[in-house]
Amino acid sequence: MKIDDNHVGVAVAAANAAGQICSRYFADLASLQVADKTQKEESQGLVTNADIEAERAIADVIHAAFPDHQILGEEEQQGSIDAGHLWIVDPLDGTNNFAHGIPHYAVSVAYYRDGMAQCGAILQPETGDLYTVAQGAGAFKNQQRVAVNLQSSLDQAMLAVGFYYDRGPMMRATLAAMDNFFGHGIHGFRRMGTAALDLVGVGMGQFGGFFEFTLSPWDFAAAALFVREAGGKVSTCQGDELPLAKTSVLATNKILHPTMLDVLKSHRDF
Ligand code: IPD
Ligand code: CA
Ligand code: CA
Repeated sequence: MKIDDNHVGVAVAAANAAGQICSRYFADLASLQVADKTQKEESQGLVTNADIEAERAIADVIHAAFPDHQILGEEEQQGSIDAGHLWIVDPLDGTNNFAHGIPHYAVSVAYYRDGMAQCGAILQPETGDLYTVAQGAGAFKNQQRVAVNLQSSLDQAMLAVGFYYDRGPMMRATLAAMDNFFGHGIHGFRRMGTAALDLVGVGMGQFGGFFEFTLSPWDFAAAALFVREAGGKVSTCQGDELPLAKTSVLATNKILHPTMLDVLKSHRDF
């Protein structure tokens, strides 16, 4: 559908604009200023001037193309989840990696129409890799179509996991669930530090599955569609449909979904 080509193009342009800003700061981390953490409601996560400038650049690109569309971003953009035309953006996913000089971070831009994911772009600025997706049209890395792997048991799989900033019950539940998965003979866990790229990793067949007990819509808005369009499945860690809200997330190659749900269901959801 041609309209989506246009929306994908804007998503890519917005991701590139933010990526340039992030890369510039990444090349000169001394210029990075960590914002007051209290500015970030409910979270102990890092916020830097790169996050904020990158989100402004995304908003400029989207509003130039679609002046009447709303934007929901992690930092400043307060678009409504109920908006008919809504862009959901994370200008810098993996700020903790970024601030420590670890090049594994991403920009994520998604477009939703009436609450349904239409398309998205996820850029890894330090490698230049661009992941794009459109509803019904597939998931792509640098324009090459990708697909989930065909692993059918946990003892064939590498899994990915994420930790929210919580250092209490949620972290203990995550560690207990990881321990449980290790008991099923998995090849290993990777905690890469960027939820969008963790999900992309499921879509590309690197990981049989990924879970995290709390993510926000901007973390998964583009990448959950990427997993689905690559043939995978995404739900909450209890198996419910993923809401456009703060939620637990389980993403798998689809085949491993029931097995991973069986393990996760015995752990507390958040
Ligand atoms: C975080 C990253 C991390 C995940 C956290 C997220 P941020 O996003 O995606 O991998 O474990 O839950 O909040 O704060 O770097 O945009
Ligand atoms: Ca994020
Ligand atoms: Ca972020």
